[in-house]
Amino acid sequence: MIGELDGVGGVGALLARALDLPEDAAEADVLANRLAAPPRGRVVVRVGASDGTGVAFASISDADPRLGHVELLAVLPEARRRGVGAALLRAAEERLAALGATRVRLGGNPPCYAWPGIDVRYTPAVCLARRAGYKVTDTAWNMTADLTRLNQPTEARPGETRPDETQPGKTRSDETRLDESRLEGQGVKVLPAGPDAAPWVRSIWGDGWAWEVEQSLGRDGAGCYVAVRDGEILGFAAYGANRPSWFGPMGTAPAAEGLGVGRVLLRRCLADQHSLGLRSAQIGWAGPIGFYSKAVAARVERVFWIYTKDL
Ligand SMILES: CC(C)(COP(=O)(O)OP(=O)(O)OC[C@H]1O[C@@H](n2cnc3c(N)ncnc32)[C@H](O)[C@@H]1OP(=O)(O)O)[C@@H](O)C(=O)NCCC(=O)NCCS
Repeated sequence: MIGELDGVGGVGALLARALDLPEDAAEADVLANRLAAPPRGRVVVRVGASDGTGVAFASISDADPRLGHVELLAVLPEARRRGVGAALLRAAEERLAALGATRVRLGGNPPCYAWPGIDVRYTPAVCLARRAGYKVTDTAWNMTADLTRLNQPTEARPGETRPDETQPGKTRSDETRLDESRLEGQGVKVLPAGPDAAPWVRSIWGDGWAWEVEQSLGRDGAGCYVAVRDGEILGFAAYGANRPSWFGPMGTAPAAEGLGVGRVLLRRCLADQHSLGLRSAQIGWAGPIGFYSKAVAARVERVFWIYTKDL
């Protein structure tokens, strides 16, 4: 029997056993709590098996009231292959349809989400999605930054010329200091973000990223920096909005691109995450692979298929 869940009590404990990837199981409570406190304008649907063997979380937002999202679906290992997952998915789809959805996506509903889509390594979930008639309509990836190597010497590529290449014993923190002093020479300062950051982000990138910036301010395990010149914000970077181990979003105003603001902001955030005790950070739903690879030797690690079905 599938029914509505009152809240997220007990969900973290269930997810800790039902999520097969250890890094997700380790964040089970954070995930359950994060999805329980979404942005305004979102209806959240939570259904569970009455015997406590599985849950599904879904949502639909004002921004696109016809598109429902099933964001989380998990069944305890001992209860699998008995139709619980399929029944939870059907129940979530029915509730989304009743709220007006004509399409359903198996994937995150940004800016508040667990994952962009189904991690390709969750093979049973991939099988379930296909069986339920979903098709892959997009791919997303996270990049992993090794925070223990932020201070290691960087490797120059053969033939690569960089302004600071002649410096012996150059490390990324040396590079960061050089980058920061270069920016200072151009009148640019990097500062912890204040209340003006979210409205500025909203004016360029919209409500989603602004919400993430708001979530990154004044909360444990989260933070945000801005680059400022003559009182004007040029760029921002945030971490911890969805969970402490995740970095993002970040953005540089179009007029300030090319100054080197982005990599300094990124490294500030990652250094903070390292000082919070993390050994690695996930650059969540990452965009420019080359930028993150070059700036902090991040590598593409988690790949997600985003599945969609018309109801
Ligand atoms: C994905 C998951 C929810 C499926 O739950 P479940 O209760 O075992 O699923 P069902 O028994 O309803 O299976 C429905 C269909 O999915 C497919 N399926 C599920 N598990 C499968 C597996 N291990 N291998 C192949 N197909 C599988 C089958 O087509 C199955 O139908 P069938 O048995 O009639 O062929 C469960 O494996 C799980 O919790 N995995 C870990 C969490 C996860 O991956 N969540 C997705 C990310 S949000």
